[in-house]
Amino acid sequence: MTDSIKIAQDQGVLTLTLNRPDKKNALTNAMYETLTGELKRASGDPAIRVVLIEAEGDMFTAGNDLGDFAAVASGAKPADTLAAHPFILALAHFAKPLVAAVQGNAVGIGLTMLLHCDAVFIAEDAKLTAPFADLALVPEAASSLLLPERIGHARAYAVFALGQPIGGKSAAEFGIATVALAGNEVRVQARIAAQKLAEKPAGALKAIKELMRDSAITAGVIETEKKVFAARLKTPEAKEAFMDFAEKRKPDFKKFS
Ligand code: COA
Repeated sequence: MTDSIKIAQDQGVLTLTLNRPDKKNALTNAMYETLTGELKRASGDPAIRVVLIEAEGDMFTAGNDLGDFAAVASGAKPADTLAAHPFILALAHFAKPLVAAVQGNAVGIGLTMLLHCDAVFIAEDAKLTAPFADLALVPEAASSLLLPERIGHARAYAVFALGQPIGGKSAAEFGIATVALAGNEVRVQARIAAQKLAEKPAGALKAIKELMRDSAITAGVIETEKKVFAARLKTPEAKEAFMDFAEKRKPDFKKFS
C-alpha cells in the first residue's frame, strides 16, 4: 500500500487515483503493486461493479518510473522485481468495466493501459505518447498488437518508433478514447459514466466485455513482449537512455551499432 495511490469506494465504483503529481505520477513498483492488489480485490468483491482510474495534477502519468528501469539496467535489481507486469496482466484479465479519466500527458503505460479500458474520457489538449524507441525499449501491455489494431500500423509505428504524440481529439477520433472534452470536464464526466455503468446489469456487462476481447491472445502477446522488454532493459542503449534522463542529457545512440 502506498500514499501515491488514493483509493475510494462509493456506490459500486472503486476509484484509484494516481497521486504522485510532483513526479508527474510516474508509476513506481509500490504504485503498481497497490493498483494490482486493488484490481484483484475488485474482481472478487461483488460490491465493486466498476473501476475508475484517474490522476491528480496536470498529467495522467509520465509512465514507468525510470529509476526502477535504471535499477534493472544497471544490474542492481533483477528484471522480475519490476511490478508493471502483474498490473498489465490484471488489466488484461479484468472482467468488470474499467473507466479512465486522462488529462495532460500519458506516457508509455499511461497510453498502453488505456487500450485495456472500456471507456476513456480524455482532455482535448491531452497528449498520448509511447516513445519506446527513444528509451531503447519495445512496446508492452500487448500494445504491439492492440495499438496497430486500433489506429493502423503506420500510425502505431510513428508512436512507438518516432515518439509521435496522439492528441486528445485524435485519440477520440481513432477510437482510443470514448470522447474528448474540455480539461475541467474529464474527471466529472468519467465519474458520471462510471456511476451509470454501476447501475447496469453486471452480468450483461461482463458478457459484453468477454465477447469484445480475447484475453488469452492478449495475455500471450504480453508474455512475448515481456521477454523482449526484459532483454532490451539490459542493453547498453537502454542504460544510456536512463542515465541521460537522470542527468537531463540528450542520449547519443549513434555510438552503438
Ligand atoms: N520516472 C521518474 N521520474 C520522472 C518520470 C519518470 N518516468 N517522469 C518525470 N519524472 C520526474 C522528473 O525527473 C522530475 O523530477 P525532479 O523534479 O526531481 O527533477 C519531475 O518528475 C518533473 O518532471 P519534468 O521532466 O520536470 O516535467 P515536464 O513537465 O518538463 O516533462 C515529461 C514531463 C513527462 C514530458 C517528462 O518528465 C518525461 O519525458 N518523462 C519521462 C517519460 C518516460 O520516458 N517514461 C517512461 C515511458 S516507458
